[in-house]
Amino acid sequence: MAETMTPEGFLRLAEDIAREAGDMLVAKRPAMSTRSADIETKSSPTDVVTVLDLASEQLIRERILAARPGDRILGEEEGDRPGETDVRWVVDPIDGTVNFLYGLPDWAVSIAVEVRGRIVAGVVNAAARGEVYTASEGGGAWLAGERLRCNPAAPLGQALVATGFGYDAALRAEQAEVLTGVLPRVRDIRRGGSCAVDLCSVASGRVDAYYERGVNYWDYAAGGLIAAEAGATLGVLDVEPGGERVTLCAAPGLFEELHGLLTPLHTESGS
Ligand code: IPD
Ligand code: CA
Ligand code: CA
Repeated sequence: MAETMTPEGFLRLAEDIAREAGDMLVAKRPAMSTRSADIETKSSPTDVVTVLDLASEQLIRERILAARPGDRILGEEEGDRPGETDVRWVVDPIDGTVNFLYGLPDWAVSIAVEVRGRIVAGVVNAAARGEVYTASEGGGAWLAGERLRCNPAAPLGQALVATGFGYDAALRAEQAEVLTGVLPRVRDIRRGGSCAVDLCSVASGRVDAYYERGVNYWDYAAGGLIAAEAGATLGVLDVEPGGERVTLCAAPGLFEELHGLLTPLHTESGS
């Protein structure tokens, strides 16, 4: 079965599913006193995965396959599902799991739709904020009926820059070292805790830029389209052959300045 839907059609379906998953997560988020029972460890003690990460991904997979049984799905929790169409859904069932766990609002259901390798639709449902960010290829980025535009390029010294840190201790040590080179050169740093929401914050102008080393495709697939449709440039820095890449997003102009700042810092950090 070939893809038979427009980017807008994919977006409507993705949005319905992301809203349903977000509503489920808001309704079922455990109370503070009981939440530790739902935690099991993933690759390190701080890489928490809750029962609800899995429940969210299962719900999303069921809804996708009910509507589009032949499509491929890549999800963080359950990996790759083969299919027969040119369409692949890229899913992070909760981006910002640690925030979700602690009752902080920056977490989201992230769903992107790829057709023949190009992302054509993306939804980031920051459900605890009541904010559903959407974009389709060529159709702009939207929040609550308002078209989003990223901030015009700020001079580097006035840029508010979001970043994040991975779960692996060695990666975090390297990220901390790079940060000491970035912090004196920019207005300030924000660590929100969700790559998908950070990219939507670039799109809406809540921050000027975002960078992070080692994020996965499901973290930025939907948010990246939203930021790009809001006028930002999304790119990666290959700082070391075969190593973890750095994802960078900012308005054109600032993007190049940050690229120039970050590349030698990552090289100098010895990684
Ligand atoms: C994480 C979040 C976080 C980022 C990490 C990601 P998860 O995703 O996006 O902001 O700093 O690199 O792994 O584990 O909450 O889905
Ligand atoms: Ca994630
Ligand atoms: Ca996740």
